Amino acid sequence: MENISEKILILDFGGQYSQIIARRIREINVYCEIKSYKTSLSEILESEYQGIILSGSPSSVIGPNAYKCDPELFETGIPILGICYGAQLIASILGGKVERASAREYGSIKVVFSHTSILTRSLYPEGICWTSHTDHITEIPKGFTITAHSDNCAVACMENTQKNIYATQFHPEVEHTVRGDEFIKSFVYKICGCTGSWSVVSFVKEAINKIKKQVGDKKVICAISGGVDSSVAALMVHKAVNKQLICIFVDHGLLREGESDLVEKVFTNRFNLNLIKINAQSRFLDKLKGITDPETKRKIIGEEFIRVFEEEAKKLEGVAFLCQGTIYPDVIESGLENASAIKSHHNVGGLPSIMDFEGIIEPLKYLFKDEVRKVGREFKLTGDLLYRQPFPGPGLAVRIIGEVTPRKLQILRKADAIFREEIVKSDVVMPPNQYFAILTNTKTVGVMGDERSYDYTVALRAVNSSDFMTAKWTKIPYEVLEKISTRIVNEVENVNRIVYDITTKPPATIEWE
Ligand code: XMP
Repeated sequence: MENISEKILILDFGGQYSQIIARRIREINVYCEIKSYKTSLSEILESEYQGIILSGSPSSVIGPNAYKCDPELFETGIPILGICYGAQLIASILGGKVERASAREYGSIKVVFSHTSILTRSLYPEGICWTSHTDHITEIPKGFTITAHSDNCAVACMENTQKNIYATQFHPEVEHTVRGDEFIKSFVYKICGCTGSWSVVSFVKEAINKIKKQVGDKKVICAISGGVDSSVAALMVHKAVNKQLICIFVDHGLLREGESDLVEKVFTNRFNLNLIKINAQSRFLDKLKGITDPETKRKIIGEEFIRVFEEEAKKLEGVAFLCQGTIYPDVIESGLENASAIKSHHNVGGLPSIMDFEGIIEPLKYLFKDEVRKVGREFKLTGDLLYRQPFPGPGLAVRIIGEVTPRKLQILRKADAIFREEIVKSDVVMPPNQYFAILTNTKTVGVMGDERSYDYTVALRAVNSSDFMTAKWTKIPYEVLEKISTRIVNEVENVNRIVYDITTKPPATIEWE
C-alpha cells in the first residue's frame, strides 16, 4: 500500500497467530502488512517499512527444510522483532544456537523481565505470558543480551540494540499474555518510531480519493450478493463516483427467504445505487437438474454466475472497471499459497478476469473483516446486512443434499426462516455465529394425526466460530430446540423429523456440502 507514511511488515513463516499480530498493530493505529517469508529483500526495502516482525511457524529452524529469510535483512538497520520461531531464526542465522528441548513449554508461564530494555521495561519486573514451543535458544548470538527469562527458558527475550534486533520466545499478541499490547506498543512506537496516525476512517477517505482519480468519468460495475464485503466495496465506489457505478445483483434463486427483496430494497431505496437485478432463477435450476454431486453443483453455479454476469455487463457501454469485494485475508491466503481445496468456494468477490477491463478496483483489499464492518458503519449500512452471517456463494444449493428442485427450495426456505426467527427471539448465552437448516435427502416414517407419513428430515446446524476455519457446535438450550422442532414439523409441509448436528469442525465442515 503506497501513500502510507508509517507501516510495519509481518514476515509470515506460516504461524497461526500472524493475523492476530497484524490486528494488534492496527488496533494501535499503525498500518501493517503480512507478506510471505519468501518476499525478496529488494521488495521489502522498496516499501520502506518502519519495522519488521518475524512471525511464528510450524517449521523448525533446526529441521532440514527450515523456512528462512534473506540473512541480509539483519544488516539493513530496520528494527526487527522475532516472535517464537522468528526469535529462533534470528539466533540461528546470527550465530547463536537453537536446540530441541526435552519437553514442550506450553501455556501461560511467568516471565521475569529486565527494566534496562526499552522493549521489556513496560512488563518489568514480571508477567504472565503465553508460550508454545519445543525448540529454544540455548546460545545467544554475539552482540546480544538476554532481557527476559522463565523457569524453563533461559532466553525468553534477547536483543541487540546496536543492530536494532529484538526477539521474544513468548507471544505478546495473544490475549493470554498480560499487557502484551504494551510490549507490542514499545516495539512499534518506541523502537520503530511510529506515531499511530493510521485509522480505518483516514484509510477510507484516501481510498475514495484514489478511486475518483482512477475512474475519472468512466464506468464501474460491481457484482453484489448481499454479503458485507461486496456491499461495503460497492458503497465505497458509489461514494467516489456515484451513478458511474452500476451494481449487478444476480438472483440465482438459491437465496434465503426474503433475502433477494432485502438486498434490492437496501441498495435502491436506502442508498440510491444504480442496481440491475437479474432474475436468473430458472436458468440456475435448469442447470442443476439431476445433479447430485456437491462439487459439480458448486462448479455449475460458479460458472453460470460468471456467464450471467458477463452477458449483462456486455450490454452496458463504456464499462472500464470491475469492483470486487476482496478483503485482506483473501489476499494473504492466495499470497501464501496455503489455501486447501476442500471445497471449491464461489464468491462474487472472486470473479475471474472474464472481460477486458481496464482495471480492477478492490477497495477493501487491505482491510480485515472487522475493519470492513467499521467502514460499513461509517456508511450507515445497518445490522441486517452489516452483521449478516456468512452465506456461501452457491447458497441453498449446498444445503439441499442431492438434487435441487423448486419444491425442496421451498421447504428449506421455510424451515430455515423458522430456525433463524427462533434463535433471534431466544437468548442463547453464546449466540451462534452461523446457523441454518439443511434439507437432507433422507425420508423417514412418521405419524401425523392418525396417518402414516413418509417425509423429509431437516437438520439444524449452529456453530460458534471466530474465523470459520474451526468451529464448535452451539449448545442451544433444549427448550429452544424443542420449540424450533415443533414449529418446523407443524408449519412446513413434507417435513416430519428434525435432527441437530453436534459435530465440530474439524472433522466436519460447517456446510454439509
Ligand atoms: P465450510 O463448510 O468449508 O465453510 O466449513 C466455512 C465457511 O465458509 C462458508 N462457505 C462459503 N463462503 N463461498 C463463500 O463465500 C462458498 O462457496 C462457501 N462455502 C462455504 C461457510 O458458510 C462457512 O461460513
